Amino acid sequence: MLLGLRGVGKTVLLNRIQEMAEDEDHLTSFIEAPESNRIVDLLYPRLVQVLRKLSTTERARASAHSGMRALRSFASAFKIEIGDISLSVDPESGTADSGNLEFDLSDLFLKIGEAAKSAGRAWTLLIDEVQYLSSDDLSALIVALHRANQKALPILFFGAGLPQAAALSGEAKSYAERLFTYPTVGALNAADAQAAIRGPVEEEGETITDDAIRNIVVKTQGYPYFLQEWGYQVWNTADASPISGDDVDAASVGAIRRLDEGFFRVRFDRLTPKERDYVICMAELGSGPYRSGDVAERMGEKVTSLGPTRSSIIRKGMIYSPSHGDIDFTVPLFADYLHRTREIDRGA
Ligand SMILES: Nc1ncnc2c1ncn2[C@@H]1O[C@H](COP(=O)(O)OP(=O)(O)O)[C@@H](O)[C@H]1O
Ligand SMILES: [Mg+2]
Repeated sequence: MLLGLRGVGKTVLLNRIQEMAEDEDHLTSFIEAPESNRIVDLLYPRLVQVLRKLSTTERARASAHSGMRALRSFASAFKIEIGDISLSVDPESGTADSGNLEFDLSDLFLKIGEAAKSAGRAWTLLIDEVQYLSSDDLSALIVALHRANQKALPILFFGAGLPQAAALSGEAKSYAERLFTYPTVGALNAADAQAAIRGPVEEEGETITDDAIRNIVVKTQGYPYFLQEWGYQVWNTADASPISGDDVDAASVGAIRRLDEGFFRVRFDRLTPKERDYVICMAELGSGPYRSGDVAERMGEKVTSLGPTRSSIIRKGMIYSPSHGDIDFTVPLFADYLHRTREIDRGA
């Protein structure tokens, strides 16, 4: 389960993992966790697709058929809107239809795992934005993966999410920490950040000065999304090679404007007025992580009375708690954005 802030390359990595799995002839399903919907609605069409593919292998036909019948029961137990992705099989009563998601999803995963095994294939499930899964959905997913793991069935899972996804998984099922590993994805180191800019420039037969590259790495702090934005703007700004430090300064105006109007702004706009006050108070305290107690003090309220506000901002994926009592932004350089656009004081 890849963990990291926004824009560090988690989704890019998950897509790359999917390609690698396909190169290994795995069946794959990629899901972006819904912020307010149930995971079963997104899983259903993927599971239909996986079982259909498996059913084309002679050796797996019977087990895939049994999986489809279980899936049909599952769909009616959970009142899934099946639209035009219906299954023309009879439901299998007593399998995946108890209405208890942990049991039923486990039943389904076992069916799929058995069908995959019969076909000599494997199924790789990838879920992005894990922090948005409800605790019931996350629990059921963990239990189902655990069951498939115990039965040594060929099912692989890769997740990605904001740092809080690790704690959420542990709260859902304490054994999650043994089931998953949690590599951290962060900013690129200086050498990789430089290569990320230099490589594409040189591939186009152009050049860029060391000074320009250093300038970009400083401004972006090596965060992939920002490197992409600066690379794009610098490329469009420069008239001729070598691209210089001055070109970078000129391009920064556009890069920051686009980030402020897009990347940063869409996140800020999702907050309620009270939540906005909260994150502005965080930014006014300087750079993170921040003590929740300090934020509360600045707002003139008790930590406990701000609890619901803080939780709601965490659920929206805007802030997270790196350690007990601490809070920080999930978007790199977000405090700087607030300083720039809200004209608030830096440091308290
Ligand atoms: N290894 C990398 N090197 C350079 N740029 C990258 C790299 N990984 C990601 N990016 C850039 O960062 C952007 C954000 O990546 P993404 O995977 O969407 O981040 P996340 O899912 O962590 O929010 C990508 O669109 C891409 O432009
Ligand atoms: Mg992503």
